[in-house]
Amino acid sequence: MYKCKNCGAVSLKWVGRCPECRSYNTMEEFAAEEELHKVVKFRKKLPDVPPVTTLDAQNSSPLNRIVTGIKEFDVSVGSGLVAGQSILIGGDPGIGKSTLMLQIAEKLASPGLKILYISTEESLNQIILRAKRLKIESKDLFFQALNDINEILYAVENGGYGFIIIDSIQRITMPQTDAAYGSISGLREIAHQITSSCLKKDCGVFLVCHVTKEGNLAGPKTLEHIVDTVLYFDSGKKDPYRILRCYKNRFGSTDEVGIYEMSENGLKGVKNPSAYFTSERQADSPGSVITASLEGTRSMLVEVQALVVPSYMPVPKRVCLGIDSGRVSIISAVLEKKEGIKLSSKEIYVKIFGGISIQEPAVDLPVAVSIVSSYMEKPLPPNFIAFGEVGLTGEVRGVANPAARLREAVNMGFSDVLLPQSNLKDVKDIKGVSAINLHPVSKLKKIIEYLA
Ligand code: TYD
Ligand code: MG
Repeated sequence: MYKCKNCGAVSLKWVGRCPECRSYNTMEEFAAEEELHKVVKFRKKLPDVPPVTTLDAQNSSPLNRIVTGIKEFDVSVGSGLVAGQSILIGGDPGIGKSTLMLQIAEKLASPGLKILYISTEESLNQIILRAKRLKIESKDLFFQALNDINEILYAVENGGYGFIIIDSIQRITMPQTDAAYGSISGLREIAHQITSSCLKKDCGVFLVCHVTKEGNLAGPKTLEHIVDTVLYFDSGKKDPYRILRCYKNRFGSTDEVGIYEMSENGLKGVKNPSAYFTSERQADSPGSVITASLEGTRSMLVEVQALVVPSYMPVPKRVCLGIDSGRVSIISAVLEKKEGIKLSSKEIYVKIFGGISIQEPAVDLPVAVSIVSSYMEKPLPPNFIAFGEVGLTGEVRGVANPAARLREAVNMGFSDVLLPQSNLKDVKDIKGVSAINLHPVSKLKKIIEYLA
């Protein structure tokens, strides 16, 4: 039998190129039979196996939450961290992982909870300079620049730390094995060694992991099952907003997000995203609509803008920022075919304000409304909000969690809500809804009547 030393794939025959990971010259012979015998022999000699238990026999104490005090972060991990928790933080290079880790480390560090920040990428001098720039002063935060896994394990076992931060796991080397440097199997082994050794010491661990240049999640993805919690940093490349999403959490709900802004003094939590994203809106301009979009379980108001202008090109332009251009093309085709709005001779520009992007279907209706509003040169009422999905036959369909969206609209003082007819029953009992004008629609035609 032959095994790939890069990804661990097994093949009966020797091949020059691994059929799984496509790397060359990585197949090595191993004796499968011999390995099996080893397992059987080992099992015969097993010492006492821990006993099984029942629910009554085991006294378990409730989870003690360690709150960082960075509200946005505590929300994303489900009201705080747990002692010994292992957390993976993934994201593009340069998005702010190291900055966030330093800020969290400072908040966590206290005389009872020593924190070790292990930098595998930057030198000690670089990391200290950055910490000083972020005005970090804690005496219980320690720094070390290490690369060898053995040194890191030694630090975990003998340092008595409450949490360690490894920035980043991709730069750790494992001299005792021949797994290729930076390979998937090597990465998995390193993460496994570190998390098990931290678990034994009840020491929490943050593993920082890059998404590769091509946006490949292969690195972080292979580590997801090893850790308790998985967080990913998302954002457009240049805008200052960062969204930290939780994809897996053994100690709380997933789907929670924290919204941050990168400033010259590090990351700052955005306290009221809705107010933030809609603050500079000019209410009386055609083509501008507010929508309630959903980030995790949390609703956020954002502004959608459309500009419809005559085109002199054979193929009119469709330019979109923060939204999929396919979605905008579909909506404009539906408006043309079903509602007779002549968009094929127009250029359409659509933008989501604030540099964030929306992928969910509930943005369809506000996009349609903003296009029609710009086309007709009719502004919408000042406190107007819309959400809903649009189908190819011109029907308006219900969306997920309309209650959260409406609650946010009520809180922010909006008075007119355009929503799918089928979502009406879910929002009837919301506090404060009686003071709002609800405009349920089941067909796009209705919005044209509404605007006309
Ligand atoms: P960094 O935390 O180094 O990213 P990562 O660890 O994910 O690679 O953040 C790098 C970017 O953040 C860099 O382009 C500069 C910017 N930044 C600020 O704007 N303000 C700050 O206070 C800091 C520390 C960084
Ligand atoms: Mg970094």
